[in-house]
Amino acid sequence: MKRIIILYHSGVCNTKMVAEKALNELSPHFNTDIFSVEALPACLDFNQYDGMIIGFPTIHASPSPRMEAFMKGLERLEKPLPALLFSTCGLYSANALRIFAKMCILKNIIPVQSQSFRCAATDGTLLFPQWNFLFTHEKKLDEKVAKACSSFINTFKFNAIKARIPRFKLYSILNYPNKFMGKHLKFRIYLHKNKCIKCGQCIKNCPAGALVQDQENYPGFTKEKCENCYRCIHHCPKLALSLSKKKSPLRVLDDRTI
Ligand SMILES: Cc1cc2nc3c(=O)[nH]c(=O)nc-3n(C[C@H](O)[C@H](O)[C@H](O)COP(=O)(O)O)c2cc1C
Repeated sequence: MKRIIILYHSGVCNTKMVAEKALNELSPHFNTDIFSVEALPACLDFNQYDGMIIGFPTIHASPSPRMEAFMKGLERLEKPLPALLFSTCGLYSANALRIFAKMCILKNIIPVQSQSFRCAATDGTLLFPQWNFLFTHEKKLDEKVAKACSSFINTFKFNAIKARIPRFKLYSILNYPNKFMGKHLKFRIYLHKNKCIKCGQCIKNCPAGALVQDQENYPGFTKEKCENCYRCIHHCPKLALSLSKKKSPLRVLDDRTI
């Protein structure tokens, strides 16, 4: 049986959810492993796989920095590995898949297919809680994932692997201010002490070590370490963390929405 690896980075959990849907689609046909880039076994050899699915959230019109860093650090594979690339996005993925496809080719990972999935926006939900559509995934997400997987499976029937780099989307120029600001500005995470119950969920879920317990057992924040994934805000059961000094969020993504 052929072996497939599903690799993802997920800031909050949309990308993880899509990766797990892909796992359900592929596991009846292939020997399939799934890993987050944050918990990748050190001895993992990518050369043992026949195919790859690789997913990341769109962050400021680019692949998530963590996924980019992973790809940059990866050693070039010995043989070409066909891959389905996917991104999740709150509105649109701009050229994130194109940027990432080019990075993959340098590592001998051949993007035979690329697909974006619109999911609940993890940033917009914090800034515009009144807009319900920012809290929802695209319609027919399951079907779209199944379709992408089945056409990826079909590529295994052919011997020749052909790289397909997504076209440059001209309208993504409209997103350049967002892209520029995102790369150069880092937002502060504020704690609303009156709401905090010191449960430590934010500290436990921070992938960057930007939150640590202070002397009073509140989460203390180090801006320089923060990756602005907002996982801490979405995991706070009391809405005690926010992007605003004055207001705590009205809504975050929770188990009902993701
Ligand atoms: C800091 C930040 C920047 C984002 N930038 C974009 C963007 O430029 N375009 C977009 O469509 N979605 C953007 N999003 C939304 C995420 O791409 C989207 O919600 C994604 O599904 C999150 O996946 P995750 O839960 O796996 O992290 C951004 C989210 C964050 C936290």
